[in-house]
Amino acid sequence: MLISGRGSNMLALADAGADPACPYEIVLVASNDPEAPGLATAATRGIATWAHSHKGMKRAEFDALIDAQLRAANIEWVALAGYMRILSPEFISGWEGRMINIHPSLLPKYKGLDTHARAIEAGDSVAGVSVHLVTAELDDGPVLAQVEVPVLPGDTPETLAARVLIEEHRLYPRVLAEMVTR
Ligand code: GRF
Repeated sequence: MLISGRGSNMLALADAGADPACPYEIVLVASNDPEAPGLATAATRGIATWAHSHKGMKRAEFDALIDAQLRAANIEWVALAGYMRILSPEFISGWEGRMINIHPSLLPKYKGLDTHARAIEAGDSVAGVSVHLVTAELDDGPVLAQVEVPVLPGDTPETLAARVLIEEHRLYPRVLAEMVTR
């Protein structure tokens, strides 16, 4: 898994994956931010971590570093969860069809950042979460599954995000399990 932040989706995937009946296991959590809180969380679950700052490095050069870690760990799938770096075309093509991402909107709506604020601003009555295959275009690959979440009167980006996050944690492990057994 690649993360840049708190790693709550990483934890949801890791905990589901720890069940012997689950068809996948999280074996490595890698980050472009050595301070990412999710790294410590992964360590509490006994999961190997790797972190290196991307600062001062060319994008492709940094991605090659991560790629080498993933290949060395013999991983089969890459799951992005709050990984806040655009990936290089070289990295993406190397994991084509085997890299998924979770995005907190009903794609193709609201690619990029501030999805909840944008949904509220637009007056949407429904928001949600999508899991998609990663392709070269940001938040654009084929959608594998979505869950809708109502936008309630008085919602702020924070209250809506919290409601969506509950669904993220249910959806992501389910989709990864489906993908690895296809
Ligand atoms: C989640 O909302 C996810 O959908 C988005 O970034 C956030 C990451 O949160 N891609 P976390 O680090 O998994 O808690």
